[in-house]
Amino acid sequence: MIRSVVRGFGAALPKRVVTNSEMEKIVDTSDEWIFQRTGIRQRHIAGADETTASLGEQAARAALANAGLTIDDIDMIVVATSTPDNTFPATAVNIQNRLGMHHGFAFDVQAVCTGFVYAVTTADAYIRGGLAKRALVIGAETFSRLLDWTDRTTCVLFGDGAGALILEATTGEGTNSDRGVLTASLRSDGAHKDKLFVDGGPSSTGTVGVLRMEGREVFKYAVGMITDVIHSAFDATGTTSEDLDWLVPHQANRRIIDGSAKKLGIPPEKVVITVDQHGNTSAASIPLAIAAAAGDGRIKKGDLVMLEAMGGGFTWGAVLLRW
Ligand code: ACO
Repeated sequence: MIRSVVRGFGAALPKRVVTNSEMEKIVDTSDEWIFQRTGIRQRHIAGADETTASLGEQAARAALANAGLTIDDIDMIVVATSTPDNTFPATAVNIQNRLGMHHGFAFDVQAVCTGFVYAVTTADAYIRGGLAKRALVIGAETFSRLLDWTDRTTCVLFGDGAGALILEATTGEGTNSDRGVLTASLRSDGAHKDKLFVDGGPSSTGTVGVLRMEGREVFKYAVGMITDVIHSAFDATGTTSEDLDWLVPHQANRRIIDGSAKKLGIPPEKVVITVDQHGNTSAASIPLAIAAAAGDGRIKKGDLVMLEAMGGGFTWGAVLLRW
């Protein structure tokens, strides 16, 4: 059976780092409040010369170098983003062009913070369906451009960045010992669409809009939704928390991550944390965390890795893969 195996990874962060103490100069907040409630210490913010596509391109180049491949070896690009450079064309074709790729196909998926989980699942389905042999899967965001910088309840939470994985079609045995994506569990429920949204768009206001969030409401649902999809992924494969080597969560908030891991019985030393360094980079947070943990040798070949996210929509999902 065909499995989508991770062949390479890469990451890119804007040059400018904004610490919590710098945020104190922008809104009425404190390093203590931000760190205690979210676990965030700093975030990267895109400069005038940095966009979602430029960060995505950098992450893609890093992933190609890591995999020892060139762009000629890729036949599909999927970009997860809610902050495209343009309303259309897709950021994926922008990145395709920047990489000098003029074959194959490229498109965006939009599932906000769950975007990368949806994108990996989409690429895996295309690969298993025989439509592509190697997919470049990118999560790239510039949420700083969607923020109301006078709203202290939201602007302290987010950051910019991009990460990428290359998935490659490989023949497996059809067992849990196979490397590659083993299962995915995706969910959404638009009944929650007004709890976390952007108050503009081409078809409604004709403006870009800014992010609006009922933080407490999001918090209330997060742990239950995340643990539900993780349980589904365990059930589908007959695995348990004890089999897991790494949990790579979407990096929204340390309290959500710790609460989910605790409920699942996953010890803290198996959880990859980057929210302190990057803040919430939405669809970019999981591939950034993967690049950190695979880059320093924590995630190793053969490890069982769970990716999970929850975000605007609400959308939520999990992917179980063997590295
Ligand atoms: N600095 C200082 N004080 C603040 C700040 C700030 N940046 N923001 C809010 N406050 C104040 C509030 O005004 C309020 O003051 P009051 O008691 O005088 O009215 C007080 O802090 C408590 O506010 P709450 O909103 O109740 O704070 P809470 O403990 O819920 O923390 C937070 C807020 C961090 C947003 C939390 O609700 C949360 O993490 N929610 C999840 C949201 C999230 O992570 N979203 C990311 C996108 S979705 C996803 O990726 C999962």
